[in-house]
Amino acid sequence: MQNKKLTKEELLEQLNKEAELGGGERRIESQHKKGKLTARERIDLLLDKGTFQEMGKFVKHRETLFGLENETYLGDGVVTGYGKVNNRLVYVFSQDFTVFGGSLSESHAEKICKIMDLAMKNGAPVIGLNDSGGARIQEGVKSLGGYADIFYRNTLASGVIPQISAVMGPCAGGAVYSPAITDFILMVENTSYMFVTGPNVVKTVTHEEVTSEELGGASAHSSKSGVTHFSCSNEVECIENIKKLLSFLPQNCEDEPDILEYDSTKSESRESLNSIVPENPNQPYDMRDVVDGIVDEDSFLEVHKNFAENMIVGFARIAGRSIGIVGNQPSVLAGCLDIKASEKGGRFVRFCDSFNIPLLVLVDVPGFLPGTDQEWNGIISSGAKLLYAFCEATVPRVTVITRKAYGGAYDVMNSKHIGADLNFAWPTAEIAVMGAKGAAEIIFKKEIKDAQDPEKKLEEKVDEYTENFANPYRASYRGFIDEVILPEKTRSKLITAFEMLENKADKLPKKKHGNIPL
Ligand code: HXC
Repeated sequence: MQNKKLTKEELLEQLNKEAELGGGERRIESQHKKGKLTARERIDLLLDKGTFQEMGKFVKHRETLFGLENETYLGDGVVTGYGKVNNRLVYVFSQDFTVFGGSLSESHAEKICKIMDLAMKNGAPVIGLNDSGGARIQEGVKSLGGYADIFYRNTLASGVIPQISAVMGPCAGGAVYSPAITDFILMVENTSYMFVTGPNVVKTVTHEEVTSEELGGASAHSSKSGVTHFSCSNEVECIENIKKLLSFLPQNCEDEPDILEYDSTKSESRESLNSIVPENPNQPYDMRDVVDGIVDEDSFLEVHKNFAENMIVGFARIAGRSIGIVGNQPSVLAGCLDIKASEKGGRFVRFCDSFNIPLLVLVDVPGFLPGTDQEWNGIISSGAKLLYAFCEATVPRVTVITRKAYGGAYDVMNSKHIGADLNFAWPTAEIAVMGAKGAAEIIFKKEIKDAQDPEKKLEEKVDEYTENFANPYRASYRGFIDEVILPEKTRSKLITAFEMLENKADKLPKKKHGNIPL
């Protein structure tokens, strides 16, 4: 039987259908059986209905080795284009695991680079939905070159447009470095993993037996390594989180985040804040309760929730305005700054500063975590990263000291001295070189030792030190604190503060770039 010649329209329809089928029904079924959506289904969930404009739908690979000349798929394993999320332009690429396991060929890389270049020229975020077996093995170095082309663009785009990576399947070897350079990584529990070398290599080299999930799953990277910022229980939640995250961000570094409408007629007094800090200064409390009392209802999106829990970071809104929050968490390690917390905080501060998101810093910090582990692993350099990040941030910066602000950590946590714009303290604040007992033991050592009753003397001296320093007033006499406020007034003070700082313009000295202690 002779094949019917297709009309032009029929040919186009046939090619579209072929491209939309990716690696075919059998592989789509296998993808679904693993609890994973296809590349196109993910894009449908992400973008506003009907807004996706696909580019490069008919691109094919150009490889002729290993029989690949006879196996081509339209689109070559990645769906790319642009569309809208909540009516704002974004560029997106979504790897199609049904085509050569989503592996990256030269053409596949070119498609990703094309949308990244457009995103840079037009100033809009890039969202990457990653699901790939890595370099297309049959293409060898061409694939490696393709990866490097993407890494290079990721780096040049850093700080210019927001870049978000969702890892929704395998991501191994050097392929991990594209997500790692982007601003945020989200992973899906049980179906995604990231590692530089997989369990087999690990077993050969270190004799450790470990599964992919244990080694590089969402749980490991959200709690142990901090590589991922969000661990999501399924793909739908992952995509919802991307949308939420985007809602706090501007389109690019020259844009401002959207300000949502806000009912300013309501009372901003929050009595619940008055009873959060316990009477006993050594008793912990949850800094998230302070956040909840300050920000617009249910607006807090915590980032890095399960990593370095002695520090909390995240986005929220205050009177409709997008802000970044950095806070010590007294309920974990007493809120001490350690290596992980410093790096978590430092990276978040730099992100907010890159994209004009004002910073609110909540302080209750007894100091840096002592110990050989911390010293030998570089708490000096890590603490310096957080310090450096605050020092160079030019966005509006407001601090509230709720309780302890001791030693170097007082300076580091957005003190007035390193460029904060407004510093508030609650009456419970203690701003000192160290806690009263430690201080009294050092400076009155001889007096205590020589006393008839050393314990009573120590108590006396602790009281004396407490009276002098365990309060916010010494600091406010010097102007290091702009105002001591009742906790209940914090929200209204902050609303006015961020409004006042709305047009802040500040610049760093001219330089090629600074040398943050990496
Ligand atoms: C070409 C690949 C591929 C790859 C998978 N496929 N990975 N094709 N290049 N890298 C193909 C398979 O042949 C198969 O084709 C289909 O994708 C699905 O793969 P399966 O193995 O059947 O799926 P699954 O059991 O789910 O396992 C997925 C996987 C495994 C864990 C990703 O495929 C795998 O280990 N792949 C190799 C990973 C790898 O070593 N990549 C190179 C890493 S080095 P059919 O036709 O059967 O559907 C690297 C360096 C990057 O990436 C460096 C950047 C600087």
